[in-house]
Amino acid sequence: MKKLATIICEGKSYDVPDNSELRSLCEDLDVAFGCSAGYCGICQIEILEGEENLDELTEAETDLGMDRKTRFACQCKVKSGTVHIRV
Ligand code: FES
Repeated sequence: MKKLATIICEGKSYDVPDNSELRSLCEDLDVAFGCSAGYCGICQIEILEGEENLDELTEAETDLGMDRKTRFACQCKVKSGTVHIRV
């Protein structure tokens, strides 16, 4: 049985497979995407809680000044556990 992580956004809870990218869920939440490579910054989301459950920042995110609380949805994966985001 596949393990599931939980993403909470605007009071709703979404189960996604562990180690999955946030992109697909964020597309469903109407986050806009552009370059999909961490350069344009259009897909920026806020991490309210559970930032430790996301993978490490990519070099592209670091170069554009992102931190554990502000990520690009096209660049992050949820490892496991619960992450509370704002889009
Ligand atoms: S789509 Fe360009 S940074 Fe995510």
